[in-house]
Amino acid sequence: MKETGEWYKVSESVEAIPFNEKKIALVEVAGKKICVINTAAGLKACTNRCPHAGGNLSEGFIDNKGNIVCCVHYYKFNLNTGRDALNEGYFLKTYPVKTTEEGVFVRV
Ligand code: FES
Repeated sequence: MKETGEWYKVSESVEAIPFNEKKIALVEVAGKKICVINTAAGLKACTNRCPHAGGNLSEGFIDNKGNIVCCVHYYKFNLNTGRDALNEGYFLKTYPVKTTEEGVFVRV
């Protein structure tokens, strides 16, 4: 798959990311509000805006399948594919994340 976008540094290290108690951090990258999530499968990133009706996903939580759950109407989204768990056609914008010796980066 063709890579698009640029890598933006969001933190000096994983430990320096201000995760909340749900392991979600809201950061601003290139003028966009992005959630960085510390999952069992590693760091994930997605837009803060819920594709259902605009809720703040940074106020949501991660279910036991690793989906991010919006607290407004409890839609769930796969952080790898962006698809909603009920397959209703809502699509969450996700972003690649990488960690290097220089810090944590999100490609936007
Ligand atoms: S706004 Fe997120 S589930 Fe409705």
